[in-house]
Amino acid sequence: MELPVDSWYRALKVRHSRRLYTDKPIAAHLLDKMEEVCTRFQPFAGVRGVLIRRMTEDIFRGLVGAYGKVRGASTYLAFLGERNMENVEARVGYLGEALILEATALGLSTCWISGFFDPWVAALDVKPQEKEKIYAVSPLGYAAAEYSREEKIMSSLIRSRRRKNLHQIARNIKRGNWPEWVLAGLEAARIAPSAVNRQPWCFFMENNGVIVVSMRKPGGANHFSKRLDCGIAMLHFELGARALGVGGRWEFLPSPDVARYVPVAEKKAGEE
Ligand SMILES: Cc1cc2nc3c(=O)[nH]c(=O)nc-3n(C[C@H](O)[C@H](O)[C@H](O)COP(=O)(O)O)c2cc1C
Repeated sequence: MELPVDSWYRALKVRHSRRLYTDKPIAAHLLDKMEEVCTRFQPFAGVRGVLIRRMTEDIFRGLVGAYGKVRGASTYLAFLGERNMENVEARVGYLGEALILEATALGLSTCWISGFFDPWVAALDVKPQEKEKIYAVSPLGYAAAEYSREEKIMSSLIRSRRRKNLHQIARNIKRGNWPEWVLAGLEAARIAPSAVNRQPWCFFMENNGVIVVSMRKPGGANHFSKRLDCGIAMLHFELGARALGVGGRWEFLPSPDVARYVPVAEKKAGEE
């Protein structure tokens, strides 16, 4: 399946995490569409997304007790990968964000949850293979029209609306020097979601490619994988680049680098 650039690029600009859901059911054709994308969108080996239409037992946990917990959702997505595969977390981040953006495009709300869910309970629904791990989940459904008091407090604690500026996420960037497609990619990556909104990515231009690096900052919430966040930023970057007509492919790199985006020249009519 090709990236549906227009609809996912539109979706990335309006997506925000929601943690309080109504009991409005999701129409069967929307769930079927989500399931189709889970099956057909396979950007990398070793990772997959699973749609769970009914939860056997609540998988969401709170930050402190029940505080900060996702409430009301009975449908969710699970993002899995083969735990011993190289770059598995970046792969999961990229794939998971694709499913989050598809859900957003279908009018559904979501929230990446990598810390506050019970993987043992989720495994009852998801049934991972022995070599697989559930890296994260997301509730799926219709969020309450208004943000609850708890959601507002969570957002302000995490400062979830704040984003770094371009100079903080791209080294040696000077507007006018970097091609427009790179700037579009960076703007899209800038607004990507990350665990506790830490935005741990940095971009470099190298020859014709763009490298994504995971920032190593001591302290902070390092127990959540930064490479998962970087995989999310990779998809956003690619959608921004493709929105300006620059397709490409990803090459994974050894740590602390994550991956390089290599633009692929479009073939003109009549070219071999
Ligand atoms: C990989 C990942 C893991 C996350 N885990 C949690 C979580 O366990 N609990 C939670 O409430 N939010 C979680 N979030 C949501 C982030 O806090 C949120 O994306 C960030 O604050 C930016 O806000 P926004 O998504 O509304 O733009 C996670 C996000 C990402 C990308």
